This record gives sequence, C-alpha cells and structure tokens, in this order.
Amino acid sequence: MSRQLRIAIIGHRFMGRAHSNGWLQAAKFFDLPAQPVLALACGRDADATRAFADNWGWEETTGDWREAVARDDIDIVDIASPTHLHRDMAVAAAAAGKHLFCEKPFALDAAQAAEMLAAAKAAGVVGYLNHNYRRCPAVRLAKQLVDSGELGRIYHWRGSYQQDWLADPETPMRWQLKQEFAGGGPHIDLGSHGIDLARYLVGEVAAVTCTQANFVKERPLPGGGGGEVTVDDASIMSLEFESGALGSLEVTRYATGRKNRNAFEIYGSEGAVCFDLERMNELQFFSKCDPATQQGFRTVLATDPGHDYAGRWWPPGHIIGYEHPFAHAAADFIDAVCDGPPITPDFADGLACMQVLDAANRSAREGRRVEVG
Ligand SMILES: NC(=O)c1ccc[n+]([C@@H]2O[C@H](COP(=O)([O-])OP(=O)(O)OC[C@H]3O[C@@H](n4cnc5c(N)ncnc54)[C@H](O)[C@@H]3O)[C@@H](O)[C@H]2O)c1
Repeated sequence: MSRQLRIAIIGHRFMGRAHSNGWLQAAKFFDLPAQPVLALACGRDADATRAFADNWGWEETTGDWREAVARDDIDIVDIASPTHLHRDMAVAAAAAGKHLFCEKPFALDAAQAAEMLAAAKAAGVVGYLNHNYRRCPAVRLAKQLVDSGELGRIYHWRGSYQQDWLADPETPMRWQLKQEFAGGGPHIDLGSHGIDLARYLVGEVAAVTCTQANFVKERPLPGGGGGEVTVDDASIMSLEFESGALGSLEVTRYATGRKNRNAFEIYGSEGAVCFDLERMNELQFFSKCDPATQQGFRTVLATDPGHDYAGRWWPPGHIIGYEHPFAHAAADFIDAVCDGPPITPDFADGLACMQVLDAANRSAREGRRVEVG
C-alpha cells in the first residue's frame, strides 16, 4: 500500500480520541487502498493538544484550525469540534479541496447544512457525516432484513435515545447546554442519531409533531455562579414516514439509570426487529415465517463472519464495542476517497436529517404538525 492519505483532526477530546482510535484500527484490521496518516492535531489548549498527539501518534499540532484545513500536505479534515464550528470548518476545508469526515449533529440548523452540502459538492470532495451507529453489525443486519422484505410492509418505527447525565441538577454547565454552541439539546444531539437511523432503516420522514421540555433552567458554572440552560432537555417526536409508516422518537438526558440507551424497534407485516446499543452485538428478530407454535423474538448475535464488518475482528461470539463502528467508518471513508463505493451517511443525508429536526423544532414552538422540506 504505497498511497497515503494525510489527516488533520480538529478536536482532541471525546470524539478526537474515538476518531484517532478509528483511523489506527482501520489501518490494522481492514485491507485499505491507502494508508491513513495521523498528520496534524488541532485544539484550543496547546498542552492538551500536544499530550493528545503524543498519545495517539499525531505528527504535529496547531491551535489554528484555519491553518490546518488550508495546508497543502493534508488530504482529509476530520471535524471533531463542537457543533457551532462544523459549518465554517467544512466550508473552508472543502474550498481547500479536502475530503471531510464530520461529526454529528451535522450543523446548527438546515440552512448551515445546505451550505456545507453545496461546498462539498462544488469541490467534488467526499463528505461523510459520522452517524456511527449505522455501522454496528447488528444494525446492518436490521437493514438487510428490512431491505430483503423479510419484515414485510413496515408499520412502525419506535426509537429512543436516553441518557441520564443531566438528571442531577448540580451537573455543571458545558457547551452542550448552550444553543449557540450546540444548536439544541438532546433534540439535535441524540435526535440526529435517531432520525438518521429512522431514515436509514424505514425511509424519509414526511411530517413531524414534537413536544419538548426544559427541566433545569440554570446550572452551576465551573468558575462559580449559575448559567442559563438555553437548549431543550428532552424531546418527543411523532414521525409520519413517506411510506405510510408511523413512528416515534424520544430523546432525553434525564432518563435516570439509562447511560447511553440508543434503541429502536421496527414492526412490519411479516416480522420485527429490536436493537439496543447497550447490547450492541445483538439483534432481536421476530419472524412470522417460523411455525406458529415456535414464534417469538430470538436473539441473533451479530458476530458471524457473514455479518457486515464482524469478520474483520474476532472469531464468532467474540463481541465488539462502542469504538468499533468508528473504525468501520474510517475504513469505508478511505475506500470512498480512493474511488471505492460512496460512503453514507453523506452531506445530503446531513441536510435531510437537519430538515426533519428543524421541522420538529418548529412543531414544538408552534404547537402543530409540520411537514418536512
Ligand atoms: N458520534 C457520536 O456519537 C458523538 C458523541 C459525542 C460527541 N459527538 C459530536 O462530536 C463533536 C465534538 O464533541 P466532543 O464530545 O468530542 O466535544 P469535547 O468538548 O469533548 O471536545 C471538543 C474539542 O474541540 C476543540 N475545539 C473547540 N473549539 C475549537 C477551536 N476554535 N479550534 C480548534 N479546536 C477547538 C477542543 O479543544 C476540544 O478538543 C460535537 O459535534 C458532538 O456533537 C458525536
């Protein structure tokens, strides 16, 4: 493998670490057409960025993301920064001809998302939006069961993404609780994952009705005093799909005891599937094809070599974890950059997802059903 693809990453904390690991693992476990090179790490805190770079093997560091995205020796810009920066970073990097690996939520709103899509299209670069859960082998199995018709006509999507890290009112303020940095609360943060999975597995959303809540209006600031929470704390959406299916999505950071429960259920005329990220190697599958006396949900462990991605790792039954779908995305992204199959979700998916979330915000504000688009 002689070709190299040199990466600049912006952001060195949670997603910075997950992405670094993804690039490294992809190179070790997949047959890639090019070698990803961890070239440049960018962050606001120079010492922390240097420590991050040393730990993961990034060659250089900088505090200036505009310099990072403009450098001639960079092929890929990996955006792992807070959401309010995604638009400016993606547009500047696309203009410099860089391929884009971008964290979710894609942007603050659909207007920004449209700008990002237009910039990537105009530059002819690969634009990937990291909804990592599409790349769990069990989710891929659900997709195959839907697409092959084994579930029949899809009637229902029931999604929920529940966390509890805000259930304590003393949890301090952070950027995720400010509208100008995050674009919203769990509605956009967790809801973007849920809507992406719903669109991936069931199809486009035609209309939405949404209710949101804010439970704690002020939180302690790290330096003392209190700061106003300006985002939603929970959001419940009712989804009307173009196919006629009816769905729901419930997202919250106040589901006491639920740490990171990203779950969905799909019910069709011939069968059903259920997934829960906290048991991410498993898919619950019900089929009406089974003899009537033996029907019931069965648990499929999606670790067989026949399950997407699973054969790249360990023997059957040797389960994978949260970090693995990041490696799957990195590998597929390198393939796409090297003229392999296009990678999804792409920036067009990012816009479509933001349009649903924007419509839902409007629904919550105006207290009415809103059509998407
Ligand atoms: N795919 C997922 O499931 C998932 C999970 C968590 C977060 N995210 C998304 O990833 C993004 C980053 O979130 P995080 O949790 O890693 O945040 P974080 O707060 O842990 O890290 C943010 C990083 O951005 C850097 N940064 C901030 N402003 C910068 C600037 N002006 N220039 C350069 N660097 C800057 C900081 O130095 C820091 O390293 C967000 O969009 C978030 O929604 C996605």
